[in-house]
Amino acid sequence: MAITDFERFPLTFGPSPVHRLDRLTAHLGGAQLWAKREDCNSGLAFGGNKTRKLEYIVPDVLASGADTLVSIGGYQSNHTRQVAAVGAKLGLKVRLVQERWVDWDDPGNDKVGNVLLSRIMGADTRLDPAGFDIGIRQSWQDALDEVEANGGKPYPIPAGASEHPLGGLGFANWAYEVAEQERELGVFFDTIVVCTVTGSTHAGMIAGFAALEAAGGRPRRVLGIDASAKIEQTREQVGRIARATAQLIGLERELREDEITVLEGWAGDLYGVPVESTIEAIRLAGGLEGMITDPVYEGKSMAGLIDLVSSGEISKDSTVLYAHLGGQPALNAYAGAFS
Ligand SMILES: Cc1ncc(COP(=O)(O)O)c(C=O)c1O
Repeated sequence: MAITDFERFPLTFGPSPVHRLDRLTAHLGGAQLWAKREDCNSGLAFGGNKTRKLEYIVPDVLASGADTLVSIGGYQSNHTRQVAAVGAKLGLKVRLVQERWVDWDDPGNDKVGNVLLSRIMGADTRLDPAGFDIGIRQSWQDALDEVEANGGKPYPIPAGASEHPLGGLGFANWAYEVAEQERELGVFFDTIVVCTVTGSTHAGMIAGFAALEAAGGRPRRVLGIDASAKIEQTREQVGRIARATAQLIGLERELREDEITVLEGWAGDLYGVPVESTIEAIRLAGGLEGMITDPVYEGKSMAGLIDLVSSGEISKDSTVLYAHLGGQPALNAYAGAFS
């Protein structure tokens, strides 16, 4: 099997935009910086990385005959918002478990941003007091049972669509898209920087780039920046999903440990809670590039990018692609962090 053998239901506009970050590059005085923008990849409720993952899951949803998508995330989950949008687009019901993953008491945390958008799109969003975990949750199982008990046919989509057998394919395909855009632009990105939490975005990229390399492509580094603050769990999950996805798309070798790079240092102590470096990074990318990042994910990976380039750990002669995975709607619940 190869990536092209998997059915893909189009939810995005097509290849996401790639552009230079000229002012940030000049400011940091190191590597050449570019961004690829999953935050504007689709017309479905602002898109994002889950929209890409769902392109490979929707064919399975449709084949299953399910009438209700069931998924889970925090109050301000970007993932559940994208599931709500896809459900609306397909005419399916959507049942969402929104857990209290973050101790963040901005007024409106459970009302504005992502959860508001999901409600507007007609999803049945229920708040649950459980805390953060990237594993499979009882509350999610209960929601599936409840849909069945009411005569519905649920389709389970785990947190971040990561623990789904097809969850890594969206970003394996992203790697092929990057290779095509490199040909068009006459550039080669030797380093990719990506935020990682539930793992299948980063894992899919690792698998996709390994397959491209096996087909004669140049080697490159895919640096995951942890935003889960549960580094061991995330490392394990990225490695496991990367290996499963690599096998799925026909890579005929085992991935090496040095291909699974999840870096810590920018998550702070808790998932979803910005630290000083997060807020500084958000202000810097906003002020220099008009590029908006969020306090839960992209602000943390942007902080990682800034430090790795400033310290020379990513060398001056590198050309770096920052994967912007979306997430801005959550900013509405973080006004207090900027006042
Ligand atoms: C904006 C944004 N960035 C990064 C991530 C991390 O992606 P993943 O969960 O696939 O590791 C997510 C979702 O968790 C997200 O919504």
